[in-house]
Amino acid sequence: MSFDLVFFGGTGDLAWRKLVPALFQAWRHGKLPEGGRILAVGRHERSDDEYRRFIEERFCDVESSKRPSREEFARFAALLHYRRMDLSLPEHYAGLRQWVDARGADTVVLYLATDPHLFPQICAQLGAVGLNGVNVRVVLEKPLGHDLASAQEINRVVSASFRESQALRIDHYLGKSAVQNLTALRFGNALFEPLWRRESIANIQITIAESLGVGTRGDFYDRTGALRDMVQNHALQLLTMIAMEPPATGDADAIRDEKLKVLKSLKPFTPESVDRDAVRGQYRAGTIDGQAVPSYLEELKVPPGSACETFVALRAEVQNWRWAGVPFYLRTGKRLAARDAQIVVNFRPVPHPIFAGAARANQLVIKLQPEDGLELHLLAAKGGHTAAKMPEQLAPVSLDLDFDKAFLSERVGAYERLLLDAIGGRLNLFVRSDEQEQAWRWVEPILQRWRNDSAGPRPYAAGSWGPPAASALMARDGFAWAEEE
Ligand code: BG6
Repeated sequence: MSFDLVFFGGTGDLAWRKLVPALFQAWRHGKLPEGGRILAVGRHERSDDEYRRFIEERFCDVESSKRPSREEFARFAALLHYRRMDLSLPEHYAGLRQWVDARGADTVVLYLATDPHLFPQICAQLGAVGLNGVNVRVVLEKPLGHDLASAQEINRVVSASFRESQALRIDHYLGKSAVQNLTALRFGNALFEPLWRRESIANIQITIAESLGVGTRGDFYDRTGALRDMVQNHALQLLTMIAMEPPATGDADAIRDEKLKVLKSLKPFTPESVDRDAVRGQYRAGTIDGQAVPSYLEELKVPPGSACETFVALRAEVQNWRWAGVPFYLRTGKRLAARDAQIVVNFRPVPHPIFAGAARANQLVIKLQPEDGLELHLLAAKGGHTAAKMPEQLAPVSLDLDFDKAFLSERVGAYERLLLDAIGGRLNLFVRSDEQEQAWRWVEPILQRWRNDSAGPRPYAAGSWGPPAASALMARDGFAWAEEE
């Protein structure tokens, strides 16, 4: 199958940091279909060779095991091409169409890795020159809008030129092997399904913690904040995968229909419930891994006195028969104690304890990163001597599965997986417009309330697990975050 993959924003950070290195990995693993061309589109004049040199230099910033040798790069670089385009000029799109038509590849993937405010313009122009035929797919990088209205506007313009099945919205969390494993865990095993409901589960906690700060992206981040940057997309996608009903088939739309149902079942926020069930924080100076790190307000390009949240914790409820009354706690933040993404499923305690001591309830920890694995915490008899008439003591033990180790040679990075799926036309791991809009609909009352609330975010020290209010949010229900137990 021949393909042309065109990157708009071909010299931008995303292209050289993530996309080209991911394509290189796919090529190195022999997964990239033969007969491909990769075209980077940028605003400045460069030759193909100049672009190849630019990419080769940038590989220095890529993890060493993922860097090409000179000889490898020379072979891979033959796939790379460059084209200057002024994205406002129709004739430049006509030129691109000629370039594509001259070869007539089976599949054309147009990846929009530009600033999102250019998406409407690019999509309209592509449609106008007819670069939207059935063999064309367009990939849209996040952020897709900054609220419901702007997301709907982007979707409206995209749908004027492309059918829904041609529009691939990226949420790179869906490309992570550990996240795909969620579906495998739930629907590839009969073991969990009977327990996966309110009768057996006390609460579910989803944490996406980062130890990094906002780096050099202070201006972008300050316009965005953690709710838009991480919750509306990554955290809610994880929640849908944990809470969805078993789909009838593995088809993209069967899965996305079920995920949409979860989003529609989320209890809507009111101004009162935002004050009660949503916590926002902003990091102050602190220490991470023994290194002093500055406060958010001292980061490059962050405006003085910013009220942007770098931490969010929420209590959510999925209002349906399976989950009624089970709290879902979501939390994400920058400059937290560790880079750690995990989902903790806390089971209910046994209904009638017959052993001595406080019985710990079972816990399933789905580790997403940095490790990819599963821990099941159980209780077992220690097997030592028990004095006559004394009830037996139980001790915690855990079953610990390390998927990185088990599948080492087959692990594929998130962007590698998503790019190969985009080329191959597999839509399962892309977000449908209605899912994306529903997620915006749910976070919107929080955005509104915070906009009108002068209290601002609560401070937390860099290197901590966020403001104490995030712990209080759970303590109220009689629960605690996993690291506090
Ligand atoms: C991106 C956010 O979507 O995800 C970043 O814009 C964040 O702010 C990143 O750092 C986290 O991704 P990962 O794969 O490193 O967990």
